[in-house]
Formats: sequence, structure tokens, C-alpha cells
Amino acid sequence: MNLRFHVFFGQLLWIISVLNGKTVEGIPGYGRNLIIKALPAIEDYQSNVYEVIMEPYLYDPRSYGLQAIAYLKADQDSGVTGELVFRQVVPNGPVVIEGNVTGLSAGLHGLHIHQSGAVNENCQDIGPHFIAYYGRHGGPRDNIRHVGDLGNIKAEEETLNVKIIDHLISLAGPRSVVGRSIAISKSEDDYGRSSTEDSALTGTSGPSIACGVIGYLN
Ligand SMILES: *[C@@H]1O[C@H](CO)[C@@H](O)[C@H](O)[C@H]1NC(C)=O
Ligand SMILES: [Zn+2]
Repeated sequence: MNLRFHVFFGQLLWIISVLNGKTVEGIPGYGRNLIIKALPAIEDYQSNVYEVIMEPYLYDPRSYGLQAIAYLKADQDSGVTGELVFRQVVPNGPVVIEGNVTGLSAGLHGLHIHQSGAVNENCQDIGPHFIAYYGRHGGPRDNIRHVGDLGNIKAEEETLNVKIIDHLISLAGPRSVVGRSIAISKSEDDYGRSSTEDSALTGTSGPSIACGVIGYLN
């Protein structure tokens, strides 16, 4: 394996290398590039993380990568419902979330992936934000954030059309959100900027008012 070049991609360092063809001849995927994605260490926080995939990942170029869906149901009497579709063309690549949410009060509301998909008891048992590698709550563009920290959505009219592109969640691998839940919170997420314990855990975004399990569409 010889390292060809590396490119900075937001906070993520990609290292692209090429397989030694002789040892893998005859194996599906022969001649494909091996991509090593490195999430750099954060002092006193975590060590480096490396993820390895082969590219191109999709053997059938007509398929549209991975897709998942979440139907948001109201917690108790919040009246908030919605439907969000997740799409990821390349594993480890960005995830596009598109869909709609109705019944939100005007203003900002936090949007987070939660650890658990146990949505039976309204949204009470879905656990904390999905942390994966990172330990502290943050905003979607922060270097240190929970993987599940998708920031705020802003409701203005009865129905809010959502479109979010996130570079840290994934639909496969250790950062996969499939099987977990997505929830909208009552209040605005302060991205951990207030110096309270709650801010460092949830962004002071209050209880979840709607949630749904994320499941594969294809
Ligand atoms: C949004 O809402 C409409 C219903 O008003 C629905 O038909 C549509 O499929 C929804 N979902 C997405 C992902 O846009
Ligand atoms: Zn968080």
C-alpha cells in the first residue's frame, strides 16, 4: 500500500491509498482505491479514529447509495409530526436529510439523533444524544460535538420543509444513525455555549416534542 496524497475535508482528514493489485487479483473490488478516513485526535478527549472503505463503494452505479426514513410522531400532546428522508451516496460521505415537519411553534428547535430507537413511551426512553466518538455537546459545525448534534431548525409557517447536509452522521459504520432515533426538541439548542451542565449535554434544548426511529428504505 503506498500513500498517494491527502486532502483536508472540513475537520476530517482523508488519506487515499492504493491496494497492491497482485495480492488481491480475482477478488471483487480488485483495483479499487482503499480510502482511509482519519478523524484527528483531540487532546485530553479522544485518540485518532480511522475508518477504511474501498472506493468506488457502489458496485452498481445506478443505485443511489443508502437511504433511510424516519416518521416523527408527537410526544404526548405536542401535535408535532413529520417525515424525514436520509440519503448518503458514498459511505462516510455527507448525509442529506430532507423532509417536512408540521405543528412546530415559530422559532428555533434543536434537532438531534438520540442513542436509542425505543420510541414506545413517547420520546421519554430514547436516551441521550448519539455520541459515537465525541463527548461534548456542540453545534453541527463544531469540531467537538456529539455525532447526533444536527443543530437547530427554524419554524416559520405551519409546515417546515427541512434540508440539512451533515458531514458527521452516516448511514453505515460506527457513525451510523440507522436504528437510532431522531428527535425535535422544545427549545433552541445553544450548541453548548452556556456554562451549565445541561448546556454541555443537551444545549439546553429541553424535552423532545416529536421523535421517530430511523430505518433503511433500501
Ligand atoms: C412531506 O409531506 C407530504 C405531505 O404533505 C408528503 O406527501 C411527503 O412525502 C412528505 N415527505 C417528504 C420526505 O418530503
Ligand atoms: Zn449533543
